[in-house]
Amino acid sequence: MPVNDPIIAQQTPRADHTIDQMWDKYTPEEHGVWKTLYDRQMKVLQGRAAPEHFKGLELLNMSDEIPDFRRMNEKLMALTGWEVVTVHGLIPNDVFFDHLANRRFVAGRFIRDAHKLDYLEEPDIFHDVFGHVPLLTQPVFADYMQAYGRGGVKAMKHDMIENLTRLYWYTVEFGLINTPEGRRIYGAGIVSSQSESKFSLEARSPHRVHFDLERVMTTDYRYDDFQQTYFVIDSYDELMEATAGQDFDPIYAKLKGVPDTKPDTLVDGDKVYTQGTQEYAHAGGLKAEAVAV
Ligand SMILES: [Fe+2]
Repeated sequence: MPVNDPIIAQQTPRADHTIDQMWDKYTPEEHGVWKTLYDRQMKVLQGRAAPEHFKGLELLNMSDEIPDFRRMNEKLMALTGWEVVTVHGLIPNDVFFDHLANRRFVAGRFIRDAHKLDYLEEPDIFHDVFGHVPLLTQPVFADYMQAYGRGGVKAMKHDMIENLTRLYWYTVEFGLINTPEGRRIYGAGIVSSQSESKFSLEARSPHRVHFDLERVMTTDYRYDDFQQTYFVIDSYDELMEATAGQDFDPIYAKLKGVPDTKPDTLVDGDKVYTQGTQEYAHAGGLKAEAVAV
């Protein structure tokens, strides 16, 4: 539990791990951190983020202060039937999947420290809300997220959580999309990061490969640094068709025992957009702001 948020500490989570956001209790300093991050990302994301991200921000009236979920949920619910709920911190997988399967997106209440804008021990409200929630206004993506939650419930029965987590990682968190204007970011982990917004699209280092469900689910990832491979979709429909269009049971059965691919490795059958040099990872990585782009 984040120690810097007394409003979280004073609440006892409900059985589904939710707490109240208590928006009125945010301090001017906390709103100030959001504003700094919001202003910074709105500049960096011009020409880099997917148009649906900007559209979602606009539809939800997101601005340079921490959103009040009560007001934001009225709009989100009317658009796609989703709502954002506050949780006290990291929650168990089964609870997370159950929330998604019921069109509830879980968000942290706390916001990062003003002196550590680029360091996160766990996802904060800026990542969760600025990064994830705009795309939940888009019906196809909203359905994809629910399908993922349902797939998660099945994955637990098949002991395939790790494989399913990779799907989330390489799409919802770190996905890229082709648009008529060029390649853009839709993954929340990138959209909420100044440095990875540039690195994912412009650096020489990472591979950029077209999305393939089974390839993604058998590829390990970097949880502590920029990705070594980014997977690119042509449309959100493509994601939806690859997942919700199928029953996850046969996918899990097929992937059982398939060896993992390393994060920096290209394999037969890959549709490669850019073959990376991997120079960033080979030099030690560590998310330096001065990345080779
Ligand atoms: Fe996230």
